[in-house]
Amino acid sequence: MSFFTDRFARRIGGPAFGKSGEIFKFEAIKRAKRAAKLAHPDIELIDMGVGEPDEPAFPLACQALAAEASRTENRFYADNGIPEFKEAAARYLERVYSVSGLDPATQIMHGIGTKPVYSMLPLAFIDPGDVALVTVPGYPILGTHARYLGGEAYPLPLRAENGFLPDLDGIPPEVLSRAKLLYLNYPNNPTGACATEAFFRKVVDFAKRNRIVVVHDAAYAALVYGDAKPLSFLSVPGAMDIGLEVHSLSKSFNMTGWRLGFVAGNPEAIAAYAAVKDNVDSGQFRAIQKAGVEALAHPELTDAIAEKYSRRFDLLVAALRSAGFDAKKPSGSFYCYVRAPVAAGGHDRAAGVQNRAVCVQDRAAERARVTFSTAAEFSDWLIRERLVSTVPWDDAGPYVRFSVTFEAPTLADERRVIDELSRRLESARLEF
Ligand SMILES: Cc1ncc(COP(=O)(O)O)c(C=O)c1O
Repeated sequence: MSFFTDRFARRIGGPAFGKSGEIFKFEAIKRAKRAAKLAHPDIELIDMGVGEPDEPAFPLACQALAAEASRTENRFYADNGIPEFKEAAARYLERVYSVSGLDPATQIMHGIGTKPVYSMLPLAFIDPGDVALVTVPGYPILGTHARYLGGEAYPLPLRAENGFLPDLDGIPPEVLSRAKLLYLNYPNNPTGACATEAFFRKVVDFAKRNRIVVVHDAAYAALVYGDAKPLSFLSVPGAMDIGLEVHSLSKSFNMTGWRLGFVAGNPEAIAAYAAVKDNVDSGQFRAIQKAGVEALAHPELTDAIAEKYSRRFDLLVAALRSAGFDAKKPSGSFYCYVRAPVAAGGHDRAAGVQNRAVCVQDRAAERARVTFSTAAEFSDWLIRERLVSTVPWDDAGPYVRFSVTFEAPTLADERRVIDELSRRLESARLEF
């Protein structure tokens, strides 16, 4: 037993912390990538697992940061944020989502990125025994922190047959009576589904009847395709009475590393978040908030990002379909979520692979049929045997997520990467 063994809190495993041998999913992916690269140093790894933009922030944000960084007045703790950022956020919500009438002073509060927001909201609402309703698969932070506080995260599975919307009518009354928070995220990571206004209206009604605070994660809200339009939960009548919406500049403005986002909505809920936040951090650097003001004034930047992703989705979906996946272009986000195959291989080499980039060295393995009982198994095989990285999800059926944020600086690169992906997947002879 080390000095620390019996010092760890139960919420992170107590004395068992670090000893379970269980590997966090993203760590397992990293390890598989390292192993594949080591085994095949000459073959390009196609990384379709990335969850962040492949391009840097736009020059106007960078220039604003450069200009503001050295200004004396920006040096102080920003605490709960500067008014200019709150005002810019209110104007942005009105312009992009037609959400009007928000009072920036009481209805908007920034976050140092939005991940910390999901760690703080449970502190404002969850006591031991309380329930947070969380969609799965999904971004886990709010549920994790609800559990840390002695609460419970109750999973609401997202299934294709429901358009990847949760079944609010199927929640047991005993769970509902303890539920205080409902976490939703549309456009959804990882399914790529968008919510409808009718669904949001139903959520408002459900939340009012059951006295549940709604937290809508709008991290991808402006990245939509086809007929889908950016839709804010706050635009639905009554939403402002019961909920909050969380916006991030990470994906909409290619500003992941900058750490900037904001929460908007009900003033009492904002005040509760602000009270907790005041005890957690001292605010994002003012110069970054001022760069955020510039970005928020240019929502057309997000349209340009969406146009690129849309083009990539067309290529990606065609490649996935030709390999046998039941792929459809999503209505939002930058993810294509497809059912994982049950097997690969099982063919004679002569019938298949011409391609030098595929791992043809091991001909015996190439012929062997491999079966997968989970998406995680398939994803691991795909990295090791085809050097294609994806993110697997097994929470509501076996699915893998392909992201269109893969590295490809030019149009020609984009096509080359997708052609290469196509060759590797087709040579895998996937069975569904
Ligand atoms: C669904 C979802 N919500 C929230 C976040 C957090 O974004 P950030 O902390 O960069 O604002 C992410 C990041 O991947 C995400 O996918």
